[in-house]
Amino acid sequence: MRKKTIFSGIQPSGNMHVGNYLGAVRQWVQLQEEYECLFCVVDLHSITVPQDPEKLRSHSRELAALLLACGIDEKRSTLFVQSHIPAHSELAWIFNCVAPLGWLKRMTQFKEKSIQQQSSASAGLFVYPALMAADILLYGTDLVPVGEDQKQHIEFTRDLAQKFNVTYGELFKLPEPLIPKLGARIMSLDDPNRKMDKSADNPQRAIYLLDSPDAIRTKISRATTDSHREIRFDPQRPGVNNLLVLYQLFTGRETQEIEERFLGKGYRELKQDLADAVIAGLAPIQEKYRTLTEEPGYLEKILARNAQKVAPVAESVVKEVKRRMGLG
Ligand code: AQP
Repeated sequence: MRKKTIFSGIQPSGNMHVGNYLGAVRQWVQLQEEYECLFCVVDLHSITVPQDPEKLRSHSRELAALLLACGIDEKRSTLFVQSHIPAHSELAWIFNCVAPLGWLKRMTQFKEKSIQQQSSASAGLFVYPALMAADILLYGTDLVPVGEDQKQHIEFTRDLAQKFNVTYGELFKLPEPLIPKLGARIMSLDDPNRKMDKSADNPQRAIYLLDSPDAIRTKISRATTDSHREIRFDPQRPGVNNLLVLYQLFTGRETQEIEERFLGKGYRELKQDLADAVIAGLAPIQEKYRTLTEEPGYLEKILARNAQKVAPVAESVVKEVKRRMGLG
């Protein structure tokens, strides 16, 4: 029987943080056992907000190496860079013309990201979900493992696929989101009411995968908590809850065991133990990342080979879409 297909992407818009790792990438590594997996460095999504060209290039490379270091196996999964495959942009344009304006206007990520930029926000930021739909639908994806923040975009993708199928005949499979029960929304350290993100202006906000042990300790020691004394899981107390969720995900311990461990203890102990757990959890990834990046040409070879592998698949879908729409 044909294996189900997984597709997921990550933006090289900054350094990868533990939210990306726990909310998405750690699942990707497990899913490789069972599924046909495609993982994509979605650099075209990153340019929906201004980027420094040199930094974007180095972040793309760093991100691809980090994904391998996290456990994405180049023999089992196909890791590639979005802008290497022009079919993504071509299908995205077509989808821009299929997607009703009202659907795009409902997207909460655009509303959140465009608040500060107002009318200087790019048109690309507005049509971001159409590009994401193209990424997913080009490969007959069954499942899309993502963090909670992307759920609305997957729903948009399904609606768009359905609209296309009804208008031009059945072509696209409707994908399902795969959202982890724990870790789907890791919050910022300095403001636990907003999610941890890569493009944060304050680097204290996130724990990055390549942070040094000292940086990890400092960031965690400064994390916002509250004035309560008891340490327990409680979403109403987002700062402490976030630290406990991180502790749980890095140690694999049960909720009750963790609450018992910190019974009668203060935030200082929680933060110290959490820092130890994060440092220990990230050490093997950092070590593998160093080894991988020391080998000249290794990464480039994988990315070039995978671009060659997926390009014909994506091109054939675009060709069929164009045929049905009377293009070309
Ligand atoms: N805080 C998070 N907790 C859990 N999962 C998260 N993801 C992102 N943030 C969290 C998931 O990581 C995958 C890659 O998403 P992305 O590249 O869009 O990550 P980002 O950190 O959100 O990137 P940016 O550039 O900084 O964007 P914004 O400004 O949106 O935050 C996805 O599966 C995502 O769900």
